[in-house]
Amino acid sequence: MAKVVLENVTKRFGDVVAVKDANIDIPDREFVVLVGPSGCGKSTTLRMVAGLEEVTEGNIYIGDTLVNDIPPKDRDIAMVFQNYALYPHMDVYNNMAFGLKLRKFPKDEIDRRVKEAARILGIENLLHRKPKELSGGQRQRVAVGRAIVREPKVFLMDEPLSNLDAKLRVQMRAELSKLHNRLQTTIIYVTHDQVEAMTMGDRIVVMKDGVIQQIGAPLEIYHKPKNIFVAGFIGSPAMNFVEVVIRKDEQGRYWVEHEAFKLRIPDEKVRELQDLPKYVDKKAVFGIRPENIEDAAIVPDGREDATFVANVDVVEPMGAEIFAYLNLGDQSVVARFDPASTVQDGQQVRVYFQMEKMYLFDPETEEAVA
Ligand SMILES: Nc1ncnc2c1ncn2[C@@H]1O[C@H](COP(=O)(O)OP(=O)(O)OP(=O)(O)O)[C@@H](O)[C@H]1O
Ligand SMILES: [Mg+2]
Repeated sequence: MAKVVLENVTKRFGDVVAVKDANIDIPDREFVVLVGPSGCGKSTTLRMVAGLEEVTEGNIYIGDTLVNDIPPKDRDIAMVFQNYALYPHMDVYNNMAFGLKLRKFPKDEIDRRVKEAARILGIENLLHRKPKELSGGQRQRVAVGRAIVREPKVFLMDEPLSNLDAKLRVQMRAELSKLHNRLQTTIIYVTHDQVEAMTMGDRIVVMKDGVIQQIGAPLEIYHKPKNIFVAGFIGSPAMNFVEVVIRKDEQGRYWVEHEAFKLRIPDEKVRELQDLPKYVDKKAVFGIRPENIEDAAIVPDGREDATFVANVDVVEPMGAEIFAYLNLGDQSVVARFDPASTVQDGQQVRVYFQMEKMYLFDPETEEAVA
């Protein structure tokens, strides 16, 4: 158990800046998830913590120790990779015991740790099987077991679930969360899957092009994304973005205006957006999540100034909900309608935008309007 601190950490590979000036403060026992698109620097960040890559600039601390010059084996970390090659000729027991044997642990201590890890992971009955006699999920558990027996201060996991099929991934996701509760250890977990990040992380670090965009609890990032990138990356289907002009009328009410709609910004939102007056008669990027758009027929008491008529290109019934693709002239917007909606492909529908849940971004800086 230990905290992990990255202080102004930069990594360059020749001209490539893989990680730029990263500051992350991970308290002891936190499950933190690094998430972002391919190539954004997640693995490099993790590998620097592990000691598999040197930092170009900055400092990394594990516990209170500056580890920049400490070799991986002395950092008291254990890493689980995407390609967790198990030794094919060894059974599960020996796959888990191997690292400890190399480190010359006493036999009874090895036995205690392997059995304890097997119990935690629910694979006690598999200890004498070879990897080829295991399912993908079971192999995955053995790979995690190999890390657990080390009893490290920090677990580092780089996309450990990405080789599993979708159903197993969901199951293992929940198991890793439970495991974290049981082990009470710091975990740094890398994924490009925002759903994994949202469901597993105590906190999420969103990265893009080597730069940390935002650090926060999952719902904090969902509700208060700092910029367009984070807003579009977290949430599925992704937030819709529409270029609008902000208007203020003679009664002092604010509106978002687009060729397809004019919608009133609720007073509570106006109070929240202190910089809104600066955007009057100027362009802004309006954001609305699919889950905050509804068929107006489902919302009988919805305010008139939050609705408009849109053309529906395609409707995808999902059972529990309906995805409706709305055509707004220059742009398509996805809505998640209640399954009671009767709208069909090619029809017109009156839609209701839950304007209390709207977002506004500056078109130049792409930052959220303060
Ligand atoms: N050894 C290396 N030499 C040169 N460039 C590298 C090296 N390792 C990584 N990079 C570059 O650094 C950047 C970050 O790579 P990194 O592997 O950290 O991305 P990632 O976020 O883990 O992506 P993915 O989701 O695809 O695994 C990329 O542009 C990559 O090409
Ligand atoms: Mg990677």
